[in-house]
Amino acid sequence: MKFVSVLCALALLAIAAVPCGAAEPGGLAWWQKTIVYQIYPKSFADTTGSGTGDLAGITARLDHLKELGVGAVWLTPVYPSPMVDNGYDIADYTAIDPSYGTMADFDRLVAEAKKRGIRIVMDLVFNHSSDAHPWFTESKKDRTNTRADWYVWRDAKPDGSAPTNWRSIFGGSAWTWCEERGQYYLHTFAPQQPDLNWENPDLRRALYDAARFWLDKGVGGFRVDAITYIKKPAVFADGVPDGKDGMAGIHAMTANQPGILDFLREFRREVRAGRDIFTVGEANGVGPDDLKDWVGEHGVFDMVFEFSHLDLACSGGVWCQPRDWKLTELKRALMATQRATQNSGWCPVFFENHDQPRSVDHFFPEGADPRRSAKVLAAVLLTLRGTPFIYQGEEIGLPNYPWRSVDELNDIQSHGQYEFALKEGFSPEQALAFVRAFSRDNARTPMLWDEGANAGFTTGTPWLPVHADDTALNAAAQTRDPKSVLNWCRQLSCLRREREELTAGACEELLPESEELFAFARVLENRRVVTVANFSLSAVSLPQEICSGCKLLLSSEDEPREAELAPLEARIYATEM
Ligand code: GLC
Repeated sequence: MKFVSVLCALALLAIAAVPCGAAEPGGLAWWQKTIVYQIYPKSFADTTGSGTGDLAGITARLDHLKELGVGAVWLTPVYPSPMVDNGYDIADYTAIDPSYGTMADFDRLVAEAKKRGIRIVMDLVFNHSSDAHPWFTESKKDRTNTRADWYVWRDAKPDGSAPTNWRSIFGGSAWTWCEERGQYYLHTFAPQQPDLNWENPDLRRALYDAARFWLDKGVGGFRVDAITYIKKPAVFADGVPDGKDGMAGIHAMTANQPGILDFLREFRREVRAGRDIFTVGEANGVGPDDLKDWVGEHGVFDMVFEFSHLDLACSGGVWCQPRDWKLTELKRALMATQRATQNSGWCPVFFENHDQPRSVDHFFPEGADPRRSAKVLAAVLLTLRGTPFIYQGEEIGLPNYPWRSVDELNDIQSHGQYEFALKEGFSPEQALAFVRAFSRDNARTPMLWDEGANAGFTTGTPWLPVHADDTALNAAAQTRDPKSVLNWCRQLSCLRREREELTAGACEELLPESEELFAFARVLENRRVVTVANFSLSAVSLPQEICSGCKLLLSSEDEPREAELAPLEARIYATEM
């Protein structure tokens, strides 16, 4: 394996005890130069033996993140919640759920992270609250209370049925009848997640105040959940049924409606403007062509998560059913975002999050070695233009969990999908196979820290099963092994800080027609860094023109061959500096 520089070589061998020689790219904000790490707190580290992770556990593991070169941590929701959707059903926007600890624990986390140059980024769930939120308790009482209009209420159709035939994202009608008020309320997700009515200015003010509460605590920004659903259509009408249940998926009916940008411009003014933070919106339904309105000079966020590269593994329709796809499709999807943001705007680069299956099981042919696959993806993740988002466990190459039955799963969406598949006529085995491949719980099994009981995650009973069959699959073992996925990620992270091309450079795709190689150059002035990653299970000869006169900086192979990439090998070349 070739090394980048003496400093980065030492960082690898001494397991990142030595800092990288960081370049100082001009003109970029801190969040464009750093790496963001996403934590699902329930599954990260448990200090109490409860079986679920907590804030103190995150604080205790901050050095792991520092060694990975992380500058910001996105925490999925840690607010008080009945946990119907594991915290995405919020009952109080400005407090901490006791299962995660206290506000003092949160303040300690922010302070300890700051000492290590890491900022904490909160998840704002502003499309809906929990039905246990006091706002909803009041709103549902009658049609005249002070919060009567803070949620989306409608009368029944004359026959008493729901106002429209929309199906919620988790399955079943998107409307639930409220006896107390004598009306239906809308929920894009579960019935326990009523949608907030953004048309009401008092509601919007209350949400901005909640965001400012966290800004006053020194957070570094926000990931903004499910934001494309906040603007409802002007007219609520039935959609064309897309399933045997006679319903139309709500996404197609309400995502990204005209007028949404007015709300988001206000959000930007009230929450983002004038502060040294970043915002990243979860923008399902926003494609590369829309990005000009969403990011960049006139955009509403600093970045948005755009999902076309993840969605291509699913056939269209009601919900994700696996389909075969080609590498050129993945490249096209990623490059469309790169192109859309190359002159104005910025994008996150990501292959995983808490809603997606593990990437090593998602982007490679059947039978691919997961460690080699993880290295290939990490090379792309950490060298494409944009801010890389690493999801917990991705840095050690965690795969999906081999779920044996649907009863092992906790995720509300997985259960909804399983039931829906049965109703659509699939057998229980087929339904389980779909859920296995796509369940969000694949990403939510506990982080693996060491060889101890429950991989060091908890001394209690873990809330989801722990991967148990591979002793090399944990952060401690991989820290000791110079050839591990974790140390490969650390090396790439180091390279990113050393080579300004990798942050400030333009991105040029190479070999766009190749079905085996993903190759691109990062170009700054007369300097180039070239990534070439073999996604196939065959050796592939290396086209001469890839980077003439360049030297090899890194290879995921021990002994890379001159003119040929090994199966699932990734390399980084550069022009001499
Ligand atoms: C987003 C979150 C997901 C959650 C949903 C409802 O998509 O990422 O986890 O279930 O919104 O809040």
